Amino acid sequence: MNIVIGSLKNIFDDALIAASTDEPVLILGETGTGKEVLARYIHQNSNRKDKIFIPINCAAIPPNLLESELFGYKKGAFTGADRDKKGILEEANGGTVFLDEIGELPIESQVKILRAIEEKEIISVGDTKPKQIDVRFIASTNVDLKAKVEKGEFRKDLYYRLSVFVYKLPPLRDRIYDLPEFVKYFIQSSGKDVKIDSAVMELFFCYPWPGNIRELRSVLVYAIAKSSGDKIQVEHLPDYLIHFCKHPEILRGNNAREKLECFEAYLISETLKEHPEPKEAARFLGISLRTFYRKLKKYRILPK
Ligand SMILES: Nc1ncnc2c1ncn2[C@@H]1O[C@H](COP(=O)(O)OP(=O)(O)OP(=O)(O)O)[C@@H](O)[C@H]1O
Ligand SMILES: [Mg+2]
Repeated sequence: MNIVIGSLKNIFDDALIAASTDEPVLILGETGTGKEVLARYIHQNSNRKDKIFIPINCAAIPPNLLESELFGYKKGAFTGADRDKKGILEEANGGTVFLDEIGELPIESQVKILRAIEEKEIISVGDTKPKQIDVRFIASTNVDLKAKVEKGEFRKDLYYRLSVFVYKLPPLRDRIYDLPEFVKYFIQSSGKDVKIDSAVMELFFCYPWPGNIRELRSVLVYAIAKSSGDKIQVEHLPDYLIHFCKHPEILRGNNAREKLECFEAYLISETLKEHPEPKEAARFLGISLRTFYRKLKKYRILPK
């Protein structure tokens, strides 16, 4: 699977450094930006790759069950505990645990996770003896963890312990120039040879993609099916996108200038594909090298 697309390449390349260590990793980014994709990539490129990768959604497990899920329990620890049970951290021995939505981890459990990271030790619920574990931790969140620390909702020590390697995945709208490559990738993975109408691409460029890559993928899966594999037209898109198209006042660029900038970013990234040498790209666009670099910075375009 080619998941290393466009400007993500820099982040994924950097992540190989984290992958070569056993240190915790913190992945930040909005929903659907590929946090779990990156976490799996780190695991697969680490020397734990032949061992298990266990994702745990900290927000999905009720707080009262979380500790017995994570750390296991001893027989008799509570009503219904009729035998010893291993927790996820013990099950994951030798592998990687992905703590998704770590921002939702109850403050009482945070200290136990910190201990698991620092001392490589856990204590099961109802037990007194610590057990050694060998687990690599990757955490992710789409909330502002720093703000949670400041409000006292997230432990400072855990925050700093997790922040050895921090990767921030940008929202799709901030790297909209990667969109054509993602579209191509998802069409290729569908196995169908469909084309895309230019009106659809225009719409894609201006839509803010709140659900990021996950949303783009779903839109394409839907549109490919609806177009019966020929050419995707605006009418093959989900209703909410068609609605968006009919109400241009909610377009990402609210004014002509913003729309123009949106197009300029696209033009630059397309030019870089043909002319990866910045000097040549600038000449092709008819702008000075200085202006070219200024625009790369402005649109956060990373030359290959
Ligand atoms: N780099 C990528 N290459 C290919 N597909 C991707 C990539 N990043 C994300 N996706 C697609 O988007 C989906 C969502 O990605 P992922 O589950 O990693 O997002 P997330 O950031 O963990 O979101 P959430 O915060 O909602 O959990 C994936 O299942 C995949 O289909
Ligand atoms: Mg996720």
